Amino acid sequence: MNVIVGQSGGPTAVINASLAGVYQAAVNSGAKKVYGMKNGIAGLLSEKIVLLNEVLDDDLKIELLKRTPSSFLGSCRYKLKSFETDTTEYEKVFSLLKKYEIECFFYIGGNDSMDTIAKLSAYGKKIGSNVRFVGVPKTIDNDLMITDHTPGYGSAAKFVATTMKEIIRDATVYGTEYVTIVEIMGRNAGWLTAASALARGGDCDGVDMICLPEIPFTVEGFIRKVAEMQKKKNSIVIAVSEGVKLPDGRYVCELSDNVQDVDSFGHKKLTGTARFLANECAKRLKTKTRAIELSTLQRCSGHLASRTDITEAYQVGGAAVLAAVSGQSGVAITLDRISDKPYQCKTGVVDVNKIANYEKKIPIEWINETHTDMEQAFLDYARPLIQAELPPFYVDGLPYHITLKA
Ligand code: F6P
Repeated sequence: MNVIVGQSGGPTAVINASLAGVYQAAVNSGAKKVYGMKNGIAGLLSEKIVLLNEVLDDDLKIELLKRTPSSFLGSCRYKLKSFETDTTEYEKVFSLLKKYEIECFFYIGGNDSMDTIAKLSAYGKKIGSNVRFVGVPKTIDNDLMITDHTPGYGSAAKFVATTMKEIIRDATVYGTEYVTIVEIMGRNAGWLTAASALARGGDCDGVDMICLPEIPFTVEGFIRKVAEMQKKKNSIVIAVSEGVKLPDGRYVCELSDNVQDVDSFGHKKLTGTARFLANECAKRLKTKTRAIELSTLQRCSGHLASRTDITEAYQVGGAAVLAAVSGQSGVAITLDRISDKPYQCKTGVVDVNKIANYEKKIPIEWINETHTDMEQAFLDYARPLIQAELPPFYVDGLPYHITLKA
């Protein structure tokens, strides 16, 4: 058999470990040719494909791929039209699958990317195709339904908690009034912002406030809480999600004058929340402030990746191939937790329609009563996911990456 694999949506530090998992398992299962879509489904529609057997031709390259952040094949945010109204894109995809004699199609992505798997498998069923379509989960946002967590989250959480500890060290040096606001990705779910709670420990007091999109936000309430905290301590460090929303449903960042692009899934580009809130604090509380937007750093920091995360990312890739080989289609791979202590997880398979286009939020009982911090249950959930390290290969003092030549 020949297979094809693509990467889609926002990258993570470990999405390439899933690509390595798919590649290795496909070769071990007897796949003759493993193709990669360049820039996901959008690239495939223009026949932008690469023969991975030629570029991943030795074990060292596979090992390098596992330790290279971001999407090796390139990515896209592209929503297929509904085939009920227009079959053009589907005809194109299925004619290419036929041309390259592809029997299995793997797509590594989040809830939007699972929409692609759901649509292609449904269309395939309709036309009687026996190509199998399997989704491989990834996203730093950790917002996929059913799965215990998503590959990519553990490494981003480790980066956020580490960076918070370092920011807290820096923010306390002057001993004078100072408000630091750190903006963290995650769109409408606060999983990654909540990971800032992991910073607290014997050597660190932790962040002073966590603002999640799960909890309606008011600027007045925020300023009041900061003023209260300032009565007790000089340096305040706050973790705020890029997706915090006002009671009327607008994102807080929409109050700033940033240009708000929208992608093909209708998602607004979220940025500027920390800057806006820091300006409000400076104006209203006459205090020194600093806004830090972690932005891209939190999803591409391969040097801080969690080994647990890399291992699981690789495993879900392999599990996807096994699912396809056993004849399953229109499914996605999940991580199913067996226990916290010791931490154990296995892979599972679920109907992709139960994941596509849904968002999983943090359970409200994992947020404390004042909505400013996380409960122990969250810490027990997240702590195992950030465990252990797998450093990059260093050359000339810098991480060495594998890249796809144009
Ligand atoms: O894919 C998830 C994510 O990293 C979100 O946390 C973030 O809002 C979004 O992607 C940013 O997307 P882009 O890089 O396309 O602007």
